[in-house]
Amino acid sequence: MNTSLLSKLLLIAATVLCPIVAHAKSEAAAIERGRYLVHQVAMCIDCHSPRGEKGVFLEGKHLTGASFDFAATVPMPWAPFAPGLVGLENFTTEQAVKFFMTGERPTGQPVLPPMPAYRMSEADARAVTAYLKSLAPAQG
Ligand code: HEC
Repeated sequence: MNTSLLSKLLLIAATVLCPIVAHAKSEAAAIERGRYLVHQVAMCIDCHSPRGEKGVFLEGKHLTGASFDFAATVPMPWAPFAPGLVGLENFTTEQAVKFFMTGERPTGQPVLPPMPAYRMSEADARAVTAYLKSLAPAQG
């Protein structure tokens, strides 16, 4: 194989691979930002993760769903259980992004308090969705 053919092949390989590598990098960055938003900013873990005695999170059970041991002090719509979010199985990516940007569920049913109706930016909604979808059920 002569060098000019080799360099052409390398160029073609680089052209094909670069966008793939770039996409993988941006996906990894979105997942990392989503983890930060879920665990440290929007505090989804506070409601959606079960706790043991003394209110300490159960090891390895983050985001697997939890019942509340508190309720509203006045009559109001209220959900006593925050469902599991691991893998975000009830939502397609686009449904989840819309939900986190508008508070609108795919079913059209309003989400009950104390779940906040988030108004995230599209980038944040995509990051949160990417992170939750990246969680394999076994990890909890
Ligand atoms: C203050 C408690 C609280 C916080 C904080 C919270 N949630 Fe929720 N979440 C709930 C409750 C309660 C429900 C159930 C609402 C219902 O049944 O209508 C819920 C429902 C949901 C649902 C719908 C699940 C389904 O299968 O229909 C999703 C998705 C969700 N939460 C994601 C999140 C994410 C992501 C965050 C953080 C960005 C978050 N929640 C923060 C309490 C909370």
